[in-house]
Amino acid sequence: MQDSTSPNVELNKHLGFLTLGRLEGFCIPEQATWLQRYLQDPKHSEIKEIAEIGFNSGHSANAFLSARKDIKVTSFEKSKRRHVNKGKSYIDEAYPGRHELITGESLITLPVAVHRDNLSFDMLFIDGSHRFANAYGDLMNGKQIVRKGGIAIMDDILPHKLWGRGPAKAWETVIESGLIQELEVVTAGPRTWAVGQYINK
Ligand SMILES: C[S@@+](CC[C@H](N)C(=O)[O-])C[C@H]1O[C@@H](n2cnc3c(N)ncnc32)[C@H](O)[C@@H]1O
Repeated sequence: MQDSTSPNVELNKHLGFLTLGRLEGFCIPEQATWLQRYLQDPKHSEIKEIAEIGFNSGHSANAFLSARKDIKVTSFEKSKRRHVNKGKSYIDEAYPGRHELITGESLITLPVAVHRDNLSFDMLFIDGSHRFANAYGDLMNGKQIVRKGGIAIMDDILPHKLWGRGPAKAWETVIESGLIQELEVVTAGPRTWAVGQYINK
């Protein structure tokens, strides 16, 4: 779906034919616009360092980086395929020095990077593997990298869809355990995501 107000119009032009049904579930225009506006809201001006799991071709990273000039993004992505490199080249040209891509399985690369570089983030966006064990592990690992009070956004809270069950169950589990306090659940078009705050670290 094309939308002239989406932050990803130029990225899609750069990707060309790679956008034509070849990418696994990239961020839809409604969600990209929501993410951009969320970060432009003065209430969220303290969010400057963002980690995301699942870069794909950079649609969500582009939404974050286009929101404000003082935002930096680190993406954890297991794929090394062509569309990832093509998205990365666009992001590097559009936002020099503001994006890092860490390749590999997030359950391994995230704890290693935290240990090595002493990372701390204001927000974590999770849109990687949709299996329960991975989504839950990513949320739990988030505790090591997101500061207390920092934001977690879990994509694809869709328990009625096969691919949304894992994220939905993982989110429910961390809310029940008290690791995260849910702030809102957002639905736009066919997608639903949840926003919360790491409170128990
Ligand atoms: C739904 S797509 C992400 C969409 C992206 N946020 C966007 O806006 O276009 C999921 C991505 O997560 C990656 N992924 C899946 N399992 C992963 C894992 N265990 N670790 C890191 N990345 C993973 C996939 O390669 C894919 O690119």
